[in-house]
Amino acid sequence: MSKYYETVLVAANHLQNAATVKPRVGLVLGSGWGSLLAELEDQVSVPYAKVPGMKVSTVLGHAGKWVLGKLKGTPLAVMSGRLHYYEGFDLKDVVFPVHVMKVMGIDTLILTNAAGAVNAGYKPGDLMFITDHINLTGANPLFGANEEAFGTRFPDMSYAYDKKLLDLAEDCAKAVGVSAHQGVYSWMTGPSFETPAEIRMLRILGGDAVGMSTVPEVLCAVHAGMRVLGVSCLSNMAAGILDQPLTHQEVIKTMEQARPGISRFLSELIGRL
Ligand code: HPA
Repeated sequence: MSKYYETVLVAANHLQNAATVKPRVGLVLGSGWGSLLAELEDQVSVPYAKVPGMKVSTVLGHAGKWVLGKLKGTPLAVMSGRLHYYEGFDLKDVVFPVHVMKVMGIDTLILTNAAGAVNAGYKPGDLMFITDHINLTGANPLFGANEEAFGTRFPDMSYAYDKKLLDLAEDCAKAVGVSAHQGVYSWMTGPSFETPAEIRMLRILGGDAVGMSTVPEVLCAVHAGMRVLGVSCLSNMAAGILDQPLTHQEVIKTMEQARPGISRFLSELIGRL
């Protein structure tokens, strides 16, 4: 067993000992996605700072705690807030919680985020289910010695986003009346928003949305053999699509307006997992 794996085990045991449920599904709540937490039954919260080996996020709106509990009968481990590459963390630290979930026995991972719409046919507040991604950062959490206990050196990414979960997500969005698309997510490091030229480039390359997260966790989860669903809430039109500046306040405001819809959607989805 590698030293790294031992660290993951310690963190997983710590969480499992605190929990009243054995989680089967992992849910990472991105910016503005926190509204569901109140609905969790038998919930136990564990701040990231209390989990051995975990780093703590510095971003406003990212609470930085695990919440373990049940929603509509499904036992869940929820990450309220994630770590980002742009905060200066090593990508190994960003994906550490994904390995912790894997070791806890979680095989289905739902990753949510706020993203800019690159596809001009999308509207702020719409959801986008991620069918594939483009990684232009040049970074990858799987750099370095391969952790054989989790997966192979050269993991296939042809089917990174699980087709059955995509179909289920589509059904759930329809059932709760939320407007949703399927598209390609482009990962940029941030923290600066992209330039209009970069957004035009992403569009030419086939990107539909752009964001500063999610892809590292996907790479790690797929390497570890987990089923992944990625969901973006489009918080703004990406830079240059509208003739106006971009702010984090706009992102937060749209996410607040989208809150009832995204809560209904997540609740429906989790109940059907
Ligand atoms: N770009 C990158 N990340 C984002 C954006 C964006 O426009 N909106 C929300 N997260």
